[in-house]
Amino acid sequence: MTAEYKVLGEVAVITLANPPVNGLGYATRVGITDGLAKANADDAVQAIIITGAGKAFSGGADIKEFGTPKAIQDPNLLSVILALEASAKPIVAAIHSVCMGGGLELAMGCHYRVAAPGTSIALPEVKLGLLPGAGGTQRLPRLLGVETALNMIVSGEAVKSEVLAALPGQKLFDHLAASAESLFDEALIYAKSVAGKRGDALPLVRKLPCQHPQGDAYFQFARNMVGGMSKNYPAPLKCVDAVEAATKLKFDEGLAEERRLFTMLMFTPESIALRHLFMAERAASKIPDVPDDTPKREIQSVAVIGAGTMGGGISMNFLNAGIPVKILEMKQDALDRGIATIKKNYEAQVKKGKLKQAAYEQRMALLTTTLSYADLKDADLIIEAVFEELGVKEQVFKQLDEVAKPGAILASNTSTLDVDKIAAFTKRPQDVVGMHFFSPANVMKLLEVVRGAKTGKDVLATVMGVAKKIKKTAVVSGVCDGFIGNRMIEQYSRQAGFLLDEGATPQQVDKAIEKFGFAMGPFRMGDLAGNDIGWAIRKRRATERADMKYSRTADKLCELGRFGQKTGAGWYDYQAGKRDAIPSQVVLDLIAQHRKDEGIVPRKISDEEIVQRLVYALVNEGAHILEDGIASKSGDIDMVYLTGYGFPIWRGGPMHYASQVGLYNVAEAMKRFAKNPRDDGKFWEPAPLIQKLVADGKSFS
Ligand code: 3HC
Ligand code: NAI
Repeated sequence: MTAEYKVLGEVAVITLANPPVNGLGYATRVGITDGLAKANADDAVQAIIITGAGKAFSGGADIKEFGTPKAIQDPNLLSVILALEASAKPIVAAIHSVCMGGGLELAMGCHYRVAAPGTSIALPEVKLGLLPGAGGTQRLPRLLGVETALNMIVSGEAVKSEVLAALPGQKLFDHLAASAESLFDEALIYAKSVAGKRGDALPLVRKLPCQHPQGDAYFQFARNMVGGMSKNYPAPLKCVDAVEAATKLKFDEGLAEERRLFTMLMFTPESIALRHLFMAERAASKIPDVPDDTPKREIQSVAVIGAGTMGGGISMNFLNAGIPVKILEMKQDALDRGIATIKKNYEAQVKKGKLKQAAYEQRMALLTTTLSYADLKDADLIIEAVFEELGVKEQVFKQLDEVAKPGAILASNTSTLDVDKIAAFTKRPQDVVGMHFFSPANVMKLLEVVRGAKTGKDVLATVMGVAKKIKKTAVVSGVCDGFIGNRMIEQYSRQAGFLLDEGATPQQVDKAIEKFGFAMGPFRMGDLAGNDIGWAIRKRRATERADMKYSRTADKLCELGRFGQKTGAGWYDYQAGKRDAIPSQVVLDLIAQHRKDEGIVPRKISDEEIVQRLVYALVNEGAHILEDGIASKSGDIDMVYLTGYGFPIWRGGPMHYASQVGLYNVAEAMKRFAKNPRDDGKFWEPAPLIQKLVADGKSFS
């Protein structure tokens, strides 16, 4: 049963019961129409209430059903709403907690709406690359006015019920209950008060007028605003079209136009990518062999070792979430510098009006410092962010093993070192885990949770819970060089270097991949992060992976001291105090000389080849990562790239993108690239997983 039916005296109650959020899947829709038919057939029933069980009235259409025949199987959402409108007996929607998308459309099809305060009201379809497809664009403007409705539909943002209920002239709610607890009783009283109404006495939203006094001028203005903000997404402008239709067409014609636009958007690559993102984000928090009910350790206090670039940002995440943090450093001046940076960051937020002074003070009051390991004895979670050297990590973890209380979680923010080796410095490897934050750690959404060979399941479950609390997107990675994200970016960077060798310029490569949608191309990114970081890693790996072929242009650049923005010169030139990347003759000459040294005759390289080689380098390594069990799902890899590496959101991540292009096409392109004489014979060999999926006619998703 996904909708329950009961009768309380003269009122029938239909309760949506499809956990977790009462998505309006086929069985629930059948439950509603069955309940409606029973209520209308029962002479004792005079009014009907629709409400939702558990933590939502309804989160809308069942997203998991999209793309399956069930999504449109009758009764579909539109026909359910038409059945509600056509009910001979009055229907009251009793709304609480979450009322979104199709859930709100369902409520607007009822004759009356009673809401609990604190309910999140939204038409968030635009966030899935869609528009409301069951009357939302036609009914909400009639209930809240065109401008308020359009703002909600185009932004998809939730507004609290009490805010909407306070709008002058609003018709969305007939009654705002005193509290969530009293909602049902108040809805029952309301239902009884309208029980006798029949026929034309029953209000229908479709009968309300829908106009905007400035008509065409307003919609032109809206299109200009929305078009400018939604460059790569078709849905927001279609939302404007649909709401305009509400003001110009008869109700049923507007409904048909809305459905046409909804169906069209459903098949756009952008919507497919955004729906993939929605699911992948939630799936990332699920670890195949760690059940949801795994007991978690309690985390009430955190310690951070190292107050440098990462330690400061990491600490801010916990302070923002109201969790006390103690930072440990080796020397007082390093501690003072770290605290000053944290203060500076918060003060900048206060200045911009993004943080209240009182909240800033509350956060700082949660922060304490120490120079002594003994002071960490009470911490529940200790995160190390010291220099990236195994010897230094060894010192730190040995001391932590001495002082940390039993059951404390010991995490390392290492970006390249072996978490298993770090765990082995302690006598409690089950308590050790990697928490790889990205810089700036207080801003970037991504957190790679690195699972060591001995990391306890309860430790993993706890860290995933902590990540949610501090609003990070956590993805589990196994132990390997670079984990998921940096292991893949290494192959992307290698291709970027080969492209220079073969004839491209840094600006051509950057422009091509930025046009594809990356936030920043590899060379501008190198200049921002510091080219010396990669240089140090390459030097270290020269002995570990001596046979690995890569372009030496990056090393030659660093040998000139061109580390990037911080030295005023990198792949580009920079004017003092400015960040604009200016093409550099020195770099072009360096590349030309390098080609001569290597005996390479440059050729013209198309932007299409640049994009394919960079993106497919990610895809092939991603496939190896799946084969090696470093990531458990291709969606996890997409989440890493979408939240940590600036991969264009509307393309859904590298693995999703490759699936959309078709793995056969991707593999064929790889075979073409393998013919390039610069290839080392291995780079472009499609990963066995890709070969298998192609042979089976399958994709990653
Ligand atoms: N359909 C199916 N499942 C849904 C769902 C939906 N509409 N909304 C959420 N869920 C599932 C999630 O997948 C997740 O499942 P899991 O536990 O198996 O991973 C579970 O509900 C909980 O989701 P969250 O982790 O996001 O829980 P929160 O409490 O943080 O948030 C929420 C709840 C606010 C409802 C949030 O999930 C959300 O924003 N959902 C999307 C709402 C939405 O976009 N609705 C529009 C759907 S499209 C539509 O209605 C088309 C119509 O116009 C025709
Ligand atoms: P940093 O050099 O800015 O800061 C390191 C801090 O650790 C310094 O303040 C130093 O005084 C302190 N420190 C060193 N040894 C210590 C010890 N034994 N006890 C206490 N404090 C000690 O370095 P950063 O960039 O913050 O990096 C820290 C860690 O985070 C490294 O493991 C690095 O690989 C990792 N990381 C860095 C990222 C970045 O972009 N900077 C991104 C992700 C991870």
